[in-house]
Amino acid sequence: MSHKILSKRRLSEDVFTAEIEAPLVAQARKPGQFVIISINSEYSERIPLTIADADPERGTIRLIWQRVGKTTAELADMQQGDEIANVTGPLGKPTHIENFGTIVCVGGGIGNAPLLPITKALKKAGNKIISILGARNKELLVLEDDFAAICDELIITTDDGSYGRKALVTEPLKEVCQRDPKSDQVVVIGPAIMMKFCCEVTKQFNIPTQVSLNTIMVDATGMCGGCRVEIDGKAKFVCVDGPEFDGHKVDFDLMIKRLNAYKDQEQQVYEQYKKHRCKIGLDK
Ligand code: FES
Repeated sequence: MSHKILSKRRLSEDVFTAEIEAPLVAQARKPGQFVIISINSEYSERIPLTIADADPERGTIRLIWQRVGKTTAELADMQQGDEIANVTGPLGKPTHIENFGTIVCVGGGIGNAPLLPITKALKKAGNKIISILGARNKELLVLEDDFAAICDELIITTDDGSYGRKALVTEPLKEVCQRDPKSDQVVVIGPAIMMKFCCEVTKQFNIPTQVSLNTIMVDATGMCGGCRVEIDGKAKFVCVDGPEFDGHKVDFDLMIKRLNAYKDQEQQVYEQYKKHRCKIGLDK
């Protein structure tokens, strides 16, 4: 069964969102879960994408992705009415949702997309939500309005000071952690390096911290080992054991090393695709 793109729009220079027909996924998905898509056939590259939202009645899911390589660029070039060959999911363990008290939700860059459904569910469960969203600059900040609609407090940071506070997210996170009474939990989703440093901050204050890991994935069934990470010294697979883990137990340095393992090949394939789309007049 293929999956029609019902609408698609650009959120920033390289970030896109689309509503896609996937009735079974829409009914079953829970916050924190993801899908694996392959665009043209079972032979296309398979990439994991978070389910940012779902409408079980319409039978649709909302995906948000950043154009960082060939497949995400191909997806960005697709238009309303086009069809995606395979959408497999929902995959991964759902987020544990309950009323913990006060939760700090920290998002970095495209990490705001997986963070949004989790934040919504935590708010619905009765938690007080303080969100800290960071981006390199104003243009790259996405979903601010969606977070503003559900958060009790929203702090924005940009690396260059073009919007909100000129800081890394770790700065306001530290200040929020110093407050009395202490927050009950922190959820961080973003680039691995950001999650690493946020976890170092929350560890000092002994505040439980959940992270959602965005590793390379191939089969997403726990068999290929592509998504292997080390949690508390033990091997785990993000696709079946995660994607969420106790951030204080993740070996981020190993994860970053593994994420960079295919960078050169990924870049080469992406450059070839960019040349191809330029030739056929897709480049804008
Ligand atoms: S993607 Fe293959 S084991 Fe997780």
